Amino acid sequence: MEVVICPDPAAVAQAAAAEVVRVAREVGPSVVLGVATGSSPLGLYRVLADLVDGGGLDLSDACAFALDEYVGLPQGHPESYAEVVRRTVTEPLHLSPARVHVPNGFAEDVAAAGEAYETAILAAGGIDIQILGIGTNGHIGFNEPGSSLASRTRTETLTQRTRQDNARFFASLDEVPTRALTQGLGTILDARHALLIAQGEGKAEAVAAMVEGPLSAAVPGSVLQAHAHATVVVDEAAASGLRRTGYRRWADLNRPDWQAVGITR
Ligand code: GLP
Repeated sequence: MEVVICPDPAAVAQAAAAEVVRVAREVGPSVVLGVATGSSPLGLYRVLADLVDGGGLDLSDACAFALDEYVGLPQGHPESYAEVVRRTVTEPLHLSPARVHVPNGFAEDVAAAGEAYETAILAAGGIDIQILGIGTNGHIGFNEPGSSLASRTRTETLTQRTRQDNARFFASLDEVPTRALTQGLGTILDARHALLIAQGEGKAEAVAAMVEGPLSAAVPGSVLQAHAHATVVVDEAAASGLRRTGYRRWADLNRPDWQAVGITR
């Protein structure tokens, strides 16, 4: 697991965007992106959108798969992840809407929708780079603590902590769904690269447990310790719970050019 500590959220967005661009250029026009919702990747999406608008990046043939979707919201709800992905990813990055997939949390048979999602990811050739945030309780996607490390796309009951964290997007806590349809930890592990972004002190505990704690279903993000190409990009505040930052910074300074992460260096 590679950990990149950046001075501030703007530098996090730049470094994470550089990693996405590197993979997109390596794979070619039909790159398959895994996209996350939440606040963490918004800066990254803005940097990518600026690159697209400036002609430095063309994602018009790219494909995207969202991590998760609420179950229980009416179709078209502004906070459904289908709508959030449309507003924050598909439109600004000029992706083709037909190639942007979100798990169908509105389906009558959500279990079947989960299986269909796995099939669709396979049919697209797998995800080249999966963008991730992390919940304050260590969840990734909507895989709550206790999720099987081998889990596939399926429904999950949200913890109260996650519902409270996400209540800021709704009029009240009661409106936050209790269930979601999410890529599993096994699904996320299958992505060829994993790129997790975290900013702010509120994420420090989860980041420390994910990076330096034991690999455990109790901290779903720690499954990335078992991923061969996982990059964690954090700002100083989100890194503040890490113990081995001296080594991380040393490794970052001594990174060979071919392994560079971040366009500011
Ligand atoms: C939600 C999403 C996750 C996201 C997490 C953190 O629960 N399902 O994919 O990573 O929240 O969100 P934020 O980036 O807003 O802190």
